Amino acid sequence: MDETRATHPIECPAAGGPRGRLALARGTPAPPPPDASPVTLDFLKPVIGPGMAEVDQALRESLASDVALIRQVADYIIGGGGKRLRPALLLLTAGATGYSGREHYLLAAVLEMIHTATLLHDDVVDESSLRRGRATANATFGNATAVLVGDFLHSRAFQLLVGVGRAPVLRIVSDATNVIAEGEVLQLMSSGRANVDESAYLEVIQRKTAKLFEAAARLGAVLGDATPEREDAFARYGMHLGTAFQIMDDVLDYSGDAAAIGKNLGDDLAEGKMTLPLIRAIQRGSAEDAATIRHAVEGGGRLTDFRPVVDVLQRTGALAYARDRAAEQGRLARACLDGLAPSPYARNLLDLASFAADRAY
Ligand code: IPE
Ligand code: IPE
Ligand code: MG
Ligand code: MG
Repeated sequence: MDETRATHPIECPAAGGPRGRLALARGTPAPPPPDASPVTLDFLKPVIGPGMAEVDQALRESLASDVALIRQVADYIIGGGGKRLRPALLLLTAGATGYSGREHYLLAAVLEMIHTATLLHDDVVDESSLRRGRATANATFGNATAVLVGDFLHSRAFQLLVGVGRAPVLRIVSDATNVIAEGEVLQLMSSGRANVDESAYLEVIQRKTAKLFEAAARLGAVLGDATPEREDAFARYGMHLGTAFQIMDDVLDYSGDAAAIGKNLGDDLAEGKMTLPLIRAIQRGSAEDAATIRHAVEGGGRLTDFRPVVDVLQRTGALAYARDRAAEQGRLARACLDGLAPSPYARNLLDLASFAADRAY
């Protein structure tokens, strides 16, 4: 399998000039909205808070378009906040490898644009109505608008990358976006099917989610001219981190607090998506428990199925199992930092892995 593919299991043995922005922005960038959300997680602020403000600025400047609806929808989704984890990861790995230029701000903004584009598309596919605590773009502006603005964000991200003009950077990002699309399509193919096992599940989440974390971590190392060993270790760190992150996302879809996660619970079941808690419950539950899950997934996720399914997940310890798997991925991610020189960036990378594996939002 070629190296651009996300495969599992992933292992992590201990591992040992700005070109300016493209002149593509027509129209004046809008000032940040008054309710602009914090641009990074609190525990990262002492180290990368100022850098993340630069990323936010780059992001806003990069969204300029003289098509008013594009601007409106892009501001709507990006102004909704979000945790900005992928840009944070890039800044941290760049910092940990001693990078001292300014290119990472724009690259981090590019990753957030790609992430945002996938969210716009994902919410259409998943028919989701709440994101970042607001009505989704598809619910507000319609599916067609959400898809097309997602395309705009994707293509704008690549315009900016061409401006950066580094072949390895372009390769890493284009490979990642390609793999993400494969992950989303793979997942779609198994929608409404209950015969998904843990291995097939991991394959999907490594592609649709972890791949972008991997790319973010690798890009920081590339900018910092890290050794190939360190670059690969960071890439594996990103892959484990992203895997933990998505497993927890899937746990929170059944057990989170909607206000904290800014999304509705139950979207995965409504979509007929077999995530790790369901897979485990089918394996470990009684025949009746397994039938409850199968029926809900294959029956198109009726609203009335949610409560009985949550009961099964709790009774069978399936949510606890998935949390344990996320914790394991978090530990593997941290192990990939072995040998990294101590620094505030390295400390934050450790903390980020812990957060991803045990988060409530
Ligand atoms: C949501 O990602 C999509 C997943 C990969 C689960 P985030 O949880 O990082 O979304 P925001 O950017 O913080 O809203
Ligand atoms: C992650 O999967 C989607 C992407 C990687 C775009 P989900 O469908 O679980 O993400 P949320 O829950 O909608 O954020
Ligand atoms: Mg979704
Ligand atoms: Mg989800």
